Amino acid sequence: MTRRLFWKLCAPLVLGTLALVWVVTFLGDETEQQMSFIAEQHQQTLKQWGDTAERLYRVGDEQALAVWLEELQARENTWAAVVRSDAQPLAGSTLSTQFQEGFRLGRNVEWKIHLYFTENPIMDLPFADGHTHFLVTLPQRMRPGTYLPEVKLLLKLALPLAVLMLLASVIYHYLMGPLRQLEMATRAFSEGNLGVRVRAQFGNRSDELTALAETFDRMAERTGDLILTQRRLIADLSHELRTPLTRIDMALSCVEEGIDTQHFLPRIRRECRLMRSLVEDALTLAWLENEQPSLDQDSLDLTDLLDSVIEDARYEYPQHCLDVDLPHQAEISGSSHRALAQAVENVIRNACHYTPAGGHIRIGLRPEGEGYRLTIDDQGPGVATEQMELIFTPFYRTAQARDDRPDGHGLGLALARRQVEAVGGKIHAENLAEGGLRMLLWFPASRPAPP
Ligand SMILES: Nc1ncnc2c1ncn2[C@@H]1O[C@H](COP(=O)(O)OP(=O)(O)O)[C@@H](O)[C@H]1O
Ligand SMILES: [Mg+2]
Repeated sequence: MTRRLFWKLCAPLVLGTLALVWVVTFLGDETEQQMSFIAEQHQQTLKQWGDTAERLYRVGDEQALAVWLEELQARENTWAAVVRSDAQPLAGSTLSTQFQEGFRLGRNVEWKIHLYFTENPIMDLPFADGHTHFLVTLPQRMRPGTYLPEVKLLLKLALPLAVLMLLASVIYHYLMGPLRQLEMATRAFSEGNLGVRVRAQFGNRSDELTALAETFDRMAERTGDLILTQRRLIADLSHELRTPLTRIDMALSCVEEGIDTQHFLPRIRRECRLMRSLVEDALTLAWLENEQPSLDQDSLDLTDLLDSVIEDARYEYPQHCLDVDLPHQAEISGSSHRALAQAVENVIRNACHYTPAGGHIRIGLRPEGEGYRLTIDDQGPGVATEQMELIFTPFYRTAQARDDRPDGHGLGLALARRQVEAVGGKIHAENLAEGGLRMLLWFPASRPAPP
């Protein structure tokens, strides 16, 4: 699924916000409801006032009732009165029970108070006779909901703030966890720990961040390989250069001392040539490995190319018998003449070199699949099966080759493989049943256009 991270972040955000809105509304209504009632102790006080008024009224001492009312009004800074509420039906009419029950002068002390009215409500405490009432405007000190604005502010501001901050922190940690692991891996990699990988640390997680981790791992794999290959190449190259340099040194000392100049000068030249070819091959190899270029600019005829390489080989190895079977024409496009010529030349030279004088080398080219297959069979010693892949690694030479061919440096096949791959082809080796080595190369007739 694409945009996994989007959905993963979207779900808690949307659900969290909806839940928050719901909770805030619910709590707001609930607290307002709870805070709209007169406190229990005030209800008691009001009832006591009602009782006192009723007692004084019953005694019939109007004077004392008036004094008490006066005093109460002054003390509580409010209005209080004792009133009759007789609704006397006249002319034979009757009052419905609904009217009698609903007829009220003020509000019962247990009822909810409307907090949005600025004026305090009048409380009604009916006497036992049913038509006399003690009425009092609720004193300010008994008005409920004193802290309602603060509580509402807390609910509408502080609660969402806290919840959203919590949500943000969860999301932050969800994103930052993997990013921090990536950062640590990048730092470790830059400090030289080439083996560091991150994807495994993410466990079962699967989203854009794991894709990033996979890309990092691929990058680390490729860059790490490249760095190691380059290191090995430099070490091997330095090692390989040491031998001809020592020989040049010795030859120069002899020349300086005037010993057999005729013999040593050509030797110095030969060593220089060897070193140059070694350095050039190593540079080409490093370039092919670093850049992994796609060499696809040339169109060529493989038959022509092979003809000229074979002609050179015949000239160089006159005692060998080269049996050649090539088609009349083998056009290929999107390739590289230079890379192919060098690769094929290396392989044919090897075949000639490892085949004893007078031996046969069979070279055959024929169409196969969407390209051409080139086989080069020799009558040399072949290669031990376990070394069959190793001969394609730079500077690798079998022990026998080291003794037989001191001028080889083991770059030929490594270079050939990378050159063949750079034109979209393949190369591998196998031993022949009758002895000798077979090199198998395949080249595409044309390359698909790059995306
Ligand atoms: N035709 C062959 N027969 C036997 N061994 C071979 C053949 N070609 C290559 N090899 C082995 O593979 C090694 C690598 O070959 P190469 O890269 O061309 O290096 P070099 O020819 O400089 O030794 C050789 O040293 C040799 O041991
Ligand atoms: Mg070689």
